[in-house]
Amino acid sequence: MENLTKYFYIVTYGCQMNVHESEKLAGILNEQGYLPCENEKQADIIVFNTCCIRENAEDRAEGNIGALKKLKKQKKDLIIAVCGCMTQQKGYAEQLHKKFPFIDIIFGTHNLEDFKSLLQQKLSSKKKVISILEKETEIKENTPKFRTSFPNAWVNIMYGCNNFCTYCIVPYVRGRERSRKPENIINECKALINEGYKEITLLGQNVNSYGKDLGNTNFASLITEISNLDGDFRLRFMTNHPKDLTEDLIISLANSKKCCKSIHLPIQSGSNHILKLMNRRYTREDYLEEIKILRKYIPDIAITTDIMVGFPQETDEDFLDTFNLVKEVKYSGAFTFVYSKRKGTPAATMEGQMDEEISKERIMKLIDLQNSINREQSLSYNGKIIEILCEGYDDKKGKYLGRDTYGRMAYFSSNINLIGKFVNVLITETGGISLSGEIV
Ligand code: 5AD
Ligand code: SF4
Repeated sequence: MENLTKYFYIVTYGCQMNVHESEKLAGILNEQGYLPCENEKQADIIVFNTCCIRENAEDRAEGNIGALKKLKKQKKDLIIAVCGCMTQQKGYAEQLHKKFPFIDIIFGTHNLEDFKSLLQQKLSSKKKVISILEKETEIKENTPKFRTSFPNAWVNIMYGCNNFCTYCIVPYVRGRERSRKPENIINECKALINEGYKEITLLGQNVNSYGKDLGNTNFASLITEISNLDGDFRLRFMTNHPKDLTEDLIISLANSKKCCKSIHLPIQSGSNHILKLMNRRYTREDYLEEIKILRKYIPDIAITTDIMVGFPQETDEDFLDTFNLVKEVKYSGAFTFVYSKRKGTPAATMEGQMDEEISKERIMKLIDLQNSINREQSLSYNGKIIEILCEGYDDKKGKYLGRDTYGRMAYFSSNINLIGKFVNVLITETGGISLSGEIV
């Protein structure tokens, strides 16, 4: 007998924002009767939710889309859809259609939540559907979500970005800042807590400017309200912009019983010369002052960051400023990137584009430095008991894993399934970034 169940497979590139948007695409497909499957070969519909923040993310997506040509030939009814930041770039959808004519549906970031009607259009007309909206639309509240990251739940609090850092493509593909109404966010959080989610991560390109477009609220009051909800859960958020992080917010963070003791505060560069060229609108000194205030209110707060090397005109001295800042701040983690030229951004046409080799050398030095800081911090965990929210099971290690309030990962054994439970773990092994221990 023919199997009538239809399956979907979604490939996600890029940040947590995209991971959550894929949960919405999955929600829409699930509502249409599709179920998730393990790999592309089993799927009746494959969706690529793309990212364009760096060239390598685009190259990977294009490579993986191209590799499906054969499968599409063998399986005529297979639907291939491509959406997200990459397709939202000006003129890119047509380019993609020419390069891979076998793609059935191409849509962008502004109509991601219209996927249901785009799919129906494709199924009823059999014609290719290419639909890119130029401008952002109003926030849609009722998109179904097929969540995949229990016990954590992602919650959008705002969309878009107004900052126009000169290297960044995000404001061009995600539009201007739009905040969700606080009551909608609170209701979503309440429902998630009732469903048993134990960690909520609020998402926005710059959560510190939440509410500016609404006028009667701000991020500090939002996290206070969420923190006051009943239930046993943790609250995290990302990402922050140093120019908008206020003392008020730091105080709310310190007073919150639910907020984790960690913050992601991208520095990008430790050089004032480069920060200015990047249009970051803070100085190295402003940033270090913020770190001081954060540590005044929450002395043990874990601070993580994003750093870029090889921005146009970055000299050895500029890089040394970044290197020394990393040494001084002692981050709990750092995402390091080589600057990638993005068409249409101001930095793409700046003088002094850097040699790849120099950038690679610089990033290696930074990675080595941060690794040694991580090792040092791991050592300090030896013999400590920490509270972990168990979030998964590692098949290879045969152990459960989870994070503490600082975001540090730990592995431990258990005979019973602990996913979604808070457990106390005595740390007995402190290798690299992650720790191992025993439940106590
Ligand atoms: N090249 C390299 N890294 C970039 N990022 C943003 N744009 C670029 C680019 N053009 C990095 C920044 C940002 C993170 C999400 O990605 O560090 O904080
Ligand atoms: Fe890009 Fe800057 Fe906006 Fe972050 S704040 S998304 S780096 S423009």
